[in-house]
Amino acid sequence: MRTIRYGGDYNPEQWPEEVWHEDVRLMREAGVDLVSLGVFNWGIVEPAPGEYDFGGLDRIIDLLHANGVGVDLGTPTASPPAWLRRAHPEIRLVDSDGRTMSGGTRHGVCPSAPAFREACASIVERLAARYGAHPAVELWHIHNEFGWGGAECYCPVSERAFHRWLESEYGDIDRLNEAWGTAFWGLVYRSFDQIEAPGAAPPGVNPALQLDWRRFSNDEHIAGYRIQREIIARYSEVPATTNFMVPNCKEMDYFRWAREVDVVSNNHYLVAERPENHIELSMSADLTRGVAGGPWMLMEHSTSAVNWQPRNLAKRPGEMRRNSLAHLARGADGLLFFQWRASRTGAEKFHSAMVPHGGTDTRVWREVASLGRDLKQLSEAVDSEVAAEVAILWDWESWWALELEWRPSVDLRFRERVEAYYVSLWKQHVTVDFVHPEADLRGYKLVVAPSSYLLTDAGAKNLRGYVEDGGRLVVSYFSGIVDEYDVVHPGAHPGALRETLGLWIEEFHPVAEGASLALDSGAVGRIWSEHVRLEGAEVLAAFADGPDAGRPALTRNRLGRGDAWYVATALDDATGLRNLLADVLDSSGVHRPTGAPEQVEIVDRGGLRFLINHTGEYVAVPGLWGIDALDGTPYDGEVPIAAGGVAVVRITEEAPPQGT
Ligand code: GAL
Repeated sequence: MRTIRYGGDYNPEQWPEEVWHEDVRLMREAGVDLVSLGVFNWGIVEPAPGEYDFGGLDRIIDLLHANGVGVDLGTPTASPPAWLRRAHPEIRLVDSDGRTMSGGTRHGVCPSAPAFREACASIVERLAARYGAHPAVELWHIHNEFGWGGAECYCPVSERAFHRWLESEYGDIDRLNEAWGTAFWGLVYRSFDQIEAPGAAPPGVNPALQLDWRRFSNDEHIAGYRIQREIIARYSEVPATTNFMVPNCKEMDYFRWAREVDVVSNNHYLVAERPENHIELSMSADLTRGVAGGPWMLMEHSTSAVNWQPRNLAKRPGEMRRNSLAHLARGADGLLFFQWRASRTGAEKFHSAMVPHGGTDTRVWREVASLGRDLKQLSEAVDSEVAAEVAILWDWESWWALELEWRPSVDLRFRERVEAYYVSLWKQHVTVDFVHPEADLRGYKLVVAPSSYLLTDAGAKNLRGYVEDGGRLVVSYFSGIVDEYDVVHPGAHPGALRETLGLWIEEFHPVAEGASLALDSGAVGRIWSEHVRLEGAEVLAAFADGPDAGRPALTRNRLGRGDAWYVATALDDATGLRNLLADVLDSSGVHRPTGAPEQVEIVDRGGLRFLINHTGEYVAVPGLWGIDALDGTPYDGEVPIAAGGVAVVRITEEAPPQGT
């Protein structure tokens, strides 16, 4: 039977070899069976151009293998050696303000620089040739967090690469002028090389140029990944990954990235001071599953504090276990940490690890070892599906476009609305999948579009077809407004969704900062109001005050066998969104566990139900019969969970949903 892979980043080059022997002994004790090795060791294995020293790496790989620990072998290209930066100063990344990045740290390199790409190819070829057939190597870990520390480079080499990218996208310059709408301000181009990288400039840079710049920059990193992937494939049949930063990297379009990797892996770090940060963790895990289209791997998280937030709060006892099991519940098949042993030197010495500075007589170590034991009991989760009847639309391009300058309100933020809907559904114990607007939506009882400002014709058609075929769609304001070039869909807003929603918008009425609006349903809106004109939809609630008093705030349009709801203001869980979604969920027949406290996270994966108690109180969750997968406790209609505890129930029988 396959197991849940357990481990972390391992940096043995920071330690004398005697420590390695203690490391492997402790890895066995904790049940560690996979470590990421060599992620930042370029300066060690290639001390000078073309000179190699693989002795240490050979020995540690053999030692790990002899101890049953698999290797996720890094290509070290996220930390180019000092000699490369000196020999080729032109590889340094230039940011949008024209500042050139210095060394003394990792990253900060132009993804398009030929000298960088060549040096990467050369070290990767050496590694792949040497270790491609080593039985310890189970996964290739290409680079680290593509896009971190400067996703976009504005140097002249990048600008020329952008010209080539545009030329291959558009073929001729007239097509580009047409798509970008360059008649506006006469910003017409007569040849591709007239186009400038959109760095520091007076406001109003063509939004279509900015969107294509984002697409290009994303593709440049993908090109860097592919160079390495193709070399590795010549020597090794082992799968490859690179660690994503979902959802916290806005610049990388991970739906595109997911097509490149054999295994989707993600890094997630809690924002320690954020209230209900465990809900943001759930969202990250669900979105990672969405880009992966199934199970994935958690490449990094932390056992306790990180070192890079303003105040690095330590995790409370049991919190790491809740975090890890939530990732597992939501589709992770491997749980790894940054890092195995806490560093003594360098920038990350105050970051937690599996083996803290204090060694094994510590709470963190005990929790690490105990989690390792738990995971052995849960192998049946591997490769199994997470049950979700509801989907939320997510699109990086829409995120980019919405947050360009000069929108109707600075309060229009992509994640703000997605998170509002996500949080409300989470608190109602509804697991969601995240899907792209052009994805196959059949099979979902409900699809929510909280912030689909940019919607292509194909996306709009997909949503309409979904509704006509019997689906239920909920759309929030300022969706379906522009196409992929940030050009307004023809006619009145929301052009792409007008017929689906059965309405049009005469005028936007953004709300002043901090102000709110009443609805006649008792709900309270923020951020947005607008003059909605009906064209087939019925009114479910109206604005009771503000510029649109008496006009529709919430509507429903029946179309084909389904219906499409529209919400013309920002409702939050406590001020109306919960009630609205509860109605929609009930009428859609979405199954939800009842009787559980709001802060108990409930997720079904395979035949297991994960119940994670985020409260400081003992709770009892009713309506469940089964066996505890961790300790064999039988449950007869009720599952008791200690404060901050987790129960994983192998379900044998369940009370019928209420009302059936
Ligand atoms: C990640 C990175 C790791 C480590 C970690 C610390 O972004 O991939 O190498 O720096 O952060 O939290």
